[in-house]
Amino acid sequence: MAFTITKAVIPAAGLGTRFLPATKAMPKEMLPVVDKPAIQYVVEEAVAAGLTDVLMITGRNKGALENHFDSMPELEATLEEKGDTDRLDKVSYSTDLADVHYVRQGAPLGLGHAVLRAQMHVGHEPFAVLLGDDLIDPRDPLLTRMIEVAGETGASVVALLEVDPSTTHLYGVATIEATDEADVVRVVDLVEKPAQGTAPSNYAIIGRYVLQPEIFDVLQNTEPGKGGEIQLTDAMLTLAKENIAGGMYGVVFRGRRYDTGDRLDYIKAIVQLAVEREDLGSELRPWLKNFASTLD
Ligand code: UTP
Repeated sequence: MAFTITKAVIPAAGLGTRFLPATKAMPKEMLPVVDKPAIQYVVEEAVAAGLTDVLMITGRNKGALENHFDSMPELEATLEEKGDTDRLDKVSYSTDLADVHYVRQGAPLGLGHAVLRAQMHVGHEPFAVLLGDDLIDPRDPLLTRMIEVAGETGASVVALLEVDPSTTHLYGVATIEATDEADVVRVVDLVEKPAQGTAPSNYAIIGRYVLQPEIFDVLQNTEPGKGGEIQLTDAMLTLAKENIAGGMYGVVFRGRRYDTGDRLDYIKAIVQLAVEREDLGSELRPWLKNFASTLD
C-alpha cells in the first residue's frame, strides 16, 4: 500500500512571552506576517503537501484562531455589496483551505505535551507537526520531501538546518550520521537548547516533523525536561536511541526559511517577504535602500 499521511498537527498553545504585550489576548501564531497571520502560511504549507486534515492545539486565546478559519458572514456580505471580489476572496480563502479541528492543551506544559493532545484525533497513523515559528518558502517544499523520506524509511523524520554555531543554544541540536542520500541523515542523538559551546553539531531542529504514532506512548512516559516542560525533543531522542518504529531520520533543509519566533527575526521575515511581493516589492525596495543609506 502506498504511504500516505493526511493529518497535520499545529501546536498554537504557547504563551508567546517574547511578543508581549501583542500576545496578551492573541496567540502569537495570529501575528501578521505582511498581511497574513503566520498560522495561515503554515496551513497553506500543510495543504500543499497533501495534508488537509488539520488539528490545532490551542490555548486560552483560541477564539481568534477559530474565527480566522471560519466564515465571517457580516464582513463577506459587506465586501460582496461593494463588489470588492479581491478582498472577498482573501477572506473566504482561509475558510475553505482545510478541514480544521481544535483541541485545547489545558495548560502550556511544553511542546511534547501539546503534541500528546493530538493522540485521539490522529490515532495509529503517521502524522506531521508544523510550528508557526518557522515559515518555509512554498518554492522549497520541505514537508513533501520529509513525507517521502518517512515513506522510504518507515521512520520518523525531523527537519534540520545548518545554523551558525553561535546560535545552537536556541535550538534542539542533532548528532547525525550520513546516509546514501545527500539530504538525508540518521539522527543518533538529540539535545534541547545545549549551553553555548557544548552543541554536538550545528544541525538544528526547525519546526517540521513527520512522526510515527509510537511517539504518543513515548510522550506519555516523558518527564519534564529543559525549562520544566515536556519536550518533544526528549521523546524523539527516545525514538532515536531505542530505535522505536524505525528510529529518527533528518532531512537537511537548504531552502528558504523565515524565522518568526522572536521579535528581531520576525521583523526580518516581514521585510524579506514584503520585498518579494508583487504588490509591495517595487515600492518597498527603493524605499528600503534609501532608508538603509541614512543609517550609520
Ligand atoms: P515556543 O518554544 O516558541 O514557546 O513554542 P512559546 O511559549 O510559544 O513562546 P515564548 O518562548 O514564550 O515567546 C514552540 C511552539 O510550540 C507551541 C507554541 O505555540 C509554538 O508554536 N507550544 C509550546 C504549545 O502549543 N504548547 C506549549 O506548552 C508550548
